Amino acid sequence: MSSQYGEFLPPQRLLMGAGPSNVHPRVLQAMTASLLGHLDPVFLQVMDDVRSMLREVFKTDNPATLPVSGTGTAAMEAACVNILEPGDVFIVATNGYFGERLAEIASRTGAHVVTVEHAVGEPVTAAAIKDELAKHASVKGVGVVHAETSTGVITPIAEIAKVVHDAGALLVVDAVTSLGGVQLEVDAWDIDVCYSGTQKCVGAPPGLAPITFGDRAIEVMTNRKTKVQSFYLDMTALRDYWQQRVYHHTAPISMIYSLREALRIVLEEGLENRWRRHANNAAALIAGIDAMGLRIVANPDFRLPSLTAVYSPEGMPEGNVRKYLLDNFNIEVSGGLATMPALAGKIWRIGLMGHNSTASNVLYFLSALETALAANEYEVAAGAGVSAAQRKLRELGS
Ligand SMILES: Cc1ncc(COP(=O)(O)O)c(C=O)c1O
Repeated sequence: MSSQYGEFLPPQRLLMGAGPSNVHPRVLQAMTASLLGHLDPVFLQVMDDVRSMLREVFKTDNPATLPVSGTGTAAMEAACVNILEPGDVFIVATNGYFGERLAEIASRTGAHVVTVEHAVGEPVTAAAIKDELAKHASVKGVGVVHAETSTGVITPIAEIAKVVHDAGALLVVDAVTSLGGVQLEVDAWDIDVCYSGTQKCVGAPPGLAPITFGDRAIEVMTNRKTKVQSFYLDMTALRDYWQQRVYHHTAPISMIYSLREALRIVLEEGLENRWRRHANNAAALIAGIDAMGLRIVANPDFRLPSLTAVYSPEGMPEGNVRKYLLDNFNIEVSGGLATMPALAGKIWRIGLMGHNSTASNVLYFLSALETALAANEYEVAAGAGVSAAQRKLRELGS
C-alpha cells in the first residue's frame, strides 16, 4: 500500500538568517554514514576526536569539553544547573534577548539572579559588572553573551573576566554565534564556562551544543551541597559518559558524525583564517548596507561579523522584504525577535556564518535586497550596495 505522504524534498534555500546556516556538503554526507552503537569501540574514537577538536576550536585545554545533546539552549541550561544552587547570586549582564534568556534559565535553578541591563546596540561593559559585583557580599557567577544574536553586537570578554575573578566569581560566556567564526579564546581570556551551538559558525546542523568547563567551575561543581537539578544535563554524569564510557544516554550518533566533519573543516581552514573570512565578508556586507542608506543596529565599534542587524526603512514593514527575498531569491533572513519590542517588526538580521560567509553570498544578497527594496518602493541608486561591497572586498584583498 502506498503512503498518502509524498517524499519530502525541501527547497534549496540560502540560509542567511540568525541560524541555522547552510553546511558544507561533506557535513551532510557524514550524517548518512552507517549507524554504530554508542559504545562501539569505533564510535568511542569518534567521540574522542570530537572532544579533542572541540578543545582546539574553543582554544582550551579543559578536559571537561564535550557536546551536550540538544541545541544551544540545552548548553545554557547545562551551564546554569551545574554551577548554581538555590540562594546563589548570579549576575547576568544583558544587551539583548539571549542575555535575558540566560537570566530566565538561571532563575529557574533557585539562584538569586540580578540583571545589569545595557542599551540595545551596545556591548556589555566591565565597569557596569564591576559596579554590580561591589553591591554583593558573594557572587557565584556572572553570565555574558559574547555574540548577541538579537542585535548583532560583540562584547569584548577579557577585561570582564578580570573584574569577575577579582570578585571571586565564575565567568559564564555564551558563544553560540561566535564559536568557529569570531575570535574566541577560552583559556587566554580566562573563561570558566563557555558554550555554543553547532548550527551557526561551527557549520553543522542544529542538535548539539558544545560546552567547556574550566578548573574553577569543576571545583564549584565538586563542592555542591545539592544535586544538579537536571539528570540529563548533569556534567559529572556526562563527563563519565564521554571520558569513562559509563552509560548515561544514547548519544545522537549521526549528529556527532556531522559535528566531527564540521570541526575537521574548521581546523583544515584554520581558526585565524576563518575569523578573517568572517570579518572581511561582514565588512563588505556593511559597506553595501551603508551605501544603500540603511542603518545598522550595532555600535560601529562592536559589530558582530557573523550577524548584522539592519533597520528596515522608516514605514516599511520589514516582513515584506523578507517574504520577497524568500519567494523570489530563496534567501532566508531573520526579523527582530518578538521578545524585543524595540526591534520586532523593524529589523532584518542577516547572518554570514560558517560555510555561508562568502563574498559571493554577500554580493548575491545585496543585489537581491536592492530588488526587494525597489519592489517595496524604496529606491536605491542602482548597484550602489554591490559596488561598495566589491570595493571593500578589493581593499581587503578578499
Ligand atoms: C546567543 C544565543 N544564545 C543561545 C541561543 C539558543 O540556541 P538554540 O536556539 O540552538 O537553542 C541562540 C540561538 O539563536 C543564540 O543566538
